[in-house]
Amino acid sequence: MKVIIPVAGFGTRLRPHTLIKPKVLLNVGGKPMIHYIIEQLIKDKLATSIILITGFLGDMIKDYLDSAFDFPFTYIVQDEPKGLGHAVYCAKQCFPENDEALIILGDTLFDVDLKKLVDNRHSVIGVKKVDDPRRFGVVEKNKAGMITRFVEKPASAKVSASNEAIVGLYYLKNSGSLFSSLEHVMESNITVKGEFQLTDALEHMINGKDRMTTFYVDGWLDCGKPETLLETNRYILSKKKRSKVSCEDSVIIHPVHVGRNVTIRRSVIGPHATINDGCCITDSVIENSVIEMNSLIENCILTGSIIGESVTVRNSKASLNLGNNSELIQNQN
Ligand code: UTP
Repeated sequence: MKVIIPVAGFGTRLRPHTLIKPKVLLNVGGKPMIHYIIEQLIKDKLATSIILITGFLGDMIKDYLDSAFDFPFTYIVQDEPKGLGHAVYCAKQCFPENDEALIILGDTLFDVDLKKLVDNRHSVIGVKKVDDPRRFGVVEKNKAGMITRFVEKPASAKVSASNEAIVGLYYLKNSGSLFSSLEHVMESNITVKGEFQLTDALEHMINGKDRMTTFYVDGWLDCGKPETLLETNRYILSKKKRSKVSCEDSVIIHPVHVGRNVTIRRSVIGPHATINDGCCITDSVIENSVIEMNSLIENCILTGSIIGESVTVRNSKASLNLGNNSELIQNQN
């Protein structure tokens, strides 16, 4: 099975972090989000080939993956992020035969049995029922469970009987048809907000001979925005084995992740705090937050915060989103 993972987007919703670090290398639960995806693919022995579509800061992704995993990844550069459809099209050269393709978005984790997903006669689109589908792409199906239409970000909250949103996991039997449909979308200049969408190519495929069905994905962990990244961090921590945390005069409320060489003094850590290697936390309360490496937090109460690497924060009671090397030092009241 050849797996395509597009990771070339700018990740604008996670700025300032993504100005100098690609989104997929942001840390959730102690590891970069892409680490979990690759780990699962290698563990499941599903992938014969993993093709990463890289762009902005792509070398950082290559450096990380090549040192973290012993796997012969293929990297293809998307010159400009012209949309998910265009990103997938960049992998065309890896599919000279009409072989099957599994597409996984790089910023979405799935708690799902991929073997079951690909064990299907038809192409399969991962979906999840949502109350309000307006932010998502949605599928409509016939009585036999086959997809009849793709609706990108529907205007109404009740677009179909099922409200099944597309979660970013696609198993396509016929890559030849996928790439020719993507070509059609690009040649016809069919865009949404200036980007070539994968869903338009999928729609073109089902209007032809392709048959597609859905697969329910309950564990769908989006990491594309600060609030969903923190939600995913909570989920990953809740599944993690507890380990002893060394600290002085402090209280640890599990689940937490505390990395190596972390100093914790007179503080309350957790629940749902990820504190990465080399941080120093003093006289603070930190919950529901991710603190990247080598940051210094003193006399703070932080909740719902994402703090980059080598950041200093003093005397703050807030929900913060601070990029690498920032300093926030407030006067003590
Ligand atoms: P998103 O649209 O969620 O990611 O694409 P983004 O564009 O990086 O984020 P925002 O909207 O600016 O915050 C889902 C996945 O597809 C990749 C992204 O890197 C992400 O992993 N992608 C998207 C590409 O590789 N190329 C593109 O042109 C667009």
